[in-house]
Parts: sequence; C-alpha cells; structure tokens
Amino acid sequence: MNPTTTKVPLATGLPPQFLWGVATASYQIEGAVDEDGRTPSIWDTFSRVPGAVANADNGDVACDHYHRMPQDVALMKGLGVDSYRFSVAWPRVQPHGRGPVNPAGLAFYERLVDELLENGIAPWVTLYHWDLPQELEDAGGWPNRDTAYRFADYAMLVFDKLQDRVDTFTTMNEPWCSAWLGYNIGVHAPGRQDFDASLAATHHLLLGHGLATQRMRAAETRPHTYGITLNMGTADPAGDTELDRDAARRADGMGLRLYLDPLRKGEYPADVVADLAARGSAMPVQDGDLEIISTPFDVLGVNFYFGQDFAGTDEKGNTHEANGEPVVRPVLPGTARTAMDWPITPERFTQLLVRLHRDYPGLPLVITENGAAFDDKPDASGYVTDDDRTEYLASHIAAVAAAREQGADVRGYFAWSLLDNFEWAYGYDKRFGIVSVNYQTQERTPKQSALWFRDSIAALRA
Ligand code: NOJ
Repeated sequence: MNPTTTKVPLATGLPPQFLWGVATASYQIEGAVDEDGRTPSIWDTFSRVPGAVANADNGDVACDHYHRMPQDVALMKGLGVDSYRFSVAWPRVQPHGRGPVNPAGLAFYERLVDELLENGIAPWVTLYHWDLPQELEDAGGWPNRDTAYRFADYAMLVFDKLQDRVDTFTTMNEPWCSAWLGYNIGVHAPGRQDFDASLAATHHLLLGHGLATQRMRAAETRPHTYGITLNMGTADPAGDTELDRDAARRADGMGLRLYLDPLRKGEYPADVVADLAARGSAMPVQDGDLEIISTPFDVLGVNFYFGQDFAGTDEKGNTHEANGEPVVRPVLPGTARTAMDWPITPERFTQLLVRLHRDYPGLPLVITENGAAFDDKPDASGYVTDDDRTEYLASHIAAVAAAREQGADVRGYFAWSLLDNFEWAYGYDKRFGIVSVNYQTQERTPKQSALWFRDSIAALRA
C-alpha cells in the first residue's frame, strides 16, 4: 500500500491505547449462502421479493469473503488495526435455528478467529447482525417470545467454541433496525408492516440480549467483555415550538430511550409507555423480563451516522397522520449529504456521546460503526481518491476526541466498513468501504480513506 495522498490532516487527540478497528457483517460480505450446511436467513428470502432490494441484488456472492478470508485479514493487518468486528451467521452455526450445532459452519469462524489472532488482531464478535434463520421467522420471528430463548441457545453454541480465544461478545446489532425497519416499516427483512409486532420484536430482541448475556457470563472460564450495539442519533426540535419539542421527544423515545432505559434502568420510559397506551399498544412484558434485560453489561457499542431534527407538523401544517398519530417528521440539518442522502453532522456525534455519558453513566462506549457511502470514482488502477469519505472519517473521529474531552468514556472506534458490501435494501450501489471491491473480479483496493486511517492510527501511536 502507498502512502496516503490526502490533504486531510491525520487524526489527533486520541490516546495511544485507544482501540482502532474495522467492522463488517456476515450477510453483507460472506456470500457462500448454501455452503457447508448454511440454510436461508430472512435476508436470503427478503432479497428475492421483487422490489425489496435495489437492482434485485442479494448476498449470494457478496464480497466472497467466505473464500477470501485470509486475504481480507491480511488487508486489515496492512491497515494496522487492533480489532476486527464481524458477525456470526446464525444459519451457518445452527441451520434450523434450534437444535444441534453445525460444526462445518462454526469452523469458518474458528478459522477466522485463528487467522486474526495470528496476525495480532483482536476478534470482536457480534452474535446477531440481522440474518435470522428463515425457519425461525416461519415460526413467528422476533415477535414470537420463543425466538429470544432460541437466540440465547445459539449464542451459547458460539460462545462455548470461541470463548477461549475471543474476549468481546456483543449480542445484537441495532435492534431498532431489526424491529422497526423489519416488522413495522417493512423495508428490511422480513418485510412485515405491523406496529404491534415491531414492539414485540423490540422486547424479544432485548430479552434475547439479556438471556444470552446471563448465560455467557455464567459459563465463562475467564473474564470477557459483554455488550450490545445500538444505532443512535440525536433528536432535536426543528423549531422552538411545543409541537416540535414533543416530536423530538417522541423520536428520541422510540429510537433511543426505548432501548437504553430497559437495558440500563430496568424500565421502559414512562412517556413512551403512555404514548403507546394512547394508541392501544403495549410492550409485551412478563414478570422478571426487565430484570433479565437490565443484566449488567460492560460496553455499549455506538453506531452513529447522523443526527436529525424533528417537527410536529407535516409540510402542510397538519399535526396528525391519517391514522390519527401525531406527526414526527425528520428535518435534516445542514446541507452536506452523503450518497445515502444522510446529513453530515459530526457535531451531533459529540452531542450524542456526551449525552450518553450524562444520561447513562458508568458505561464505557466504543464506536462500533461510523462511516459514509459516497459515489466513488475509481481511476484506471482501481484506486479511489475519496476526499469526501476521508473528511467524513476525520471530522467524526475529531468529534469523538471532543466528546472525550467533555468527559465521555469512549474507548474505541471501528470504521464502517472494511469493504464495500451489500448495503441491505440499497444493494451494492452504496459503497461504505474504506477498501473498494470490484464485484466483477473481487479485487480489493484500499481507498485513500483507508490509507488515511492507517496513517492516522500509526501517527497516534508514534
Ligand atoms: C448499520 C448497520 O449495522 C450496517 O449493517 C449498515 O451497513 C450500516 N449501518 C450502513 O447503513
């Protein structure tokens, strides 16, 4: 790899022991969807639904990481990262979502962990990054309480095999996306549109987290770090009105506090519970659930992409939707946007991290994802001079340093993503990688942002 060519100054302001990593997820990179006993996940099914995914893309081949894993670990080593955050595909490890382990599927993750350790890279395991075995969805999916118990069983299959070599196990990745986008909005697998089902999914994802955390800790033969990763943004009122303040409160309630309050305070937020009751809905809590969900854990994974403002009126000034619910309309701050049309808001990142430190104290934070899609233009050699992505990373890493200065206990940062990959409903069009993937040849080429990241890590250590 060449020296970086960018004019963007290298990152500063973070201590030598700060953890640096890159992140991916199984369905987004692995391919090999029917090898070694893997069965279909909800994403294999959903990506076949006409119109569900851009260009009718799917994860059948993706980055072919299942076959190119050693080469991808070598890429990480070249970047000088400390850690690699990856997810384990449940349908590889336990193809029917219940019952016996599939040793051939689990063996892939053993090989990956061994390859990482041989290269001095610490594995950071995510147990669930959205690829639910289809058979469990057929049995009701996350809205079905039993799925939480099935998840804890599956987690133990992975934990028993890998706990000797892996220090950090996180349970769920972005349960809001699984529950809300998957079961209410329907733009993610399994594509259902049922508000109450999405509330049940939320509760059972959190319950699965708590059950698995309890069981892993009880079975550990040495101390581990346990956690969960949430997607979080900021929700500020678009204007100085009571309606906008209430819209921001609602957005924050359903997007952030509905997850962090039960996890850290052992209760669902009272204002959200009241809003739900007003529409005839409730979280399906059974006795003892909140004690399980609030089982202590060691690290909160923060996935941050952008912050938003919210208005309590639609463009025409209406305060209620057709279904009678109050309007909660996102208003994107500023004008700079990524290829996802997401606003670029590094100052909101600092705001979020400081707020987490204030409202949920005593919980170490690690940025488990941050990054940006832009429309890359590779040169003839395949090299991408991605000033936009480099600047995004630089400004957001600076935002982390600023939050630390204000007291936030942020201990690490994983760039999303190591590779361009299958960006869910957007297919392969949206490229988040700091390493470019040519999907015709599967050739990988580190982008300028990767070289900047590598040089920044080295400079902070020098
Ligand atoms: C969060 C998800 O965890 C990841 O899978 C996705 O690719 C990124 N956000 C970008 O949208």
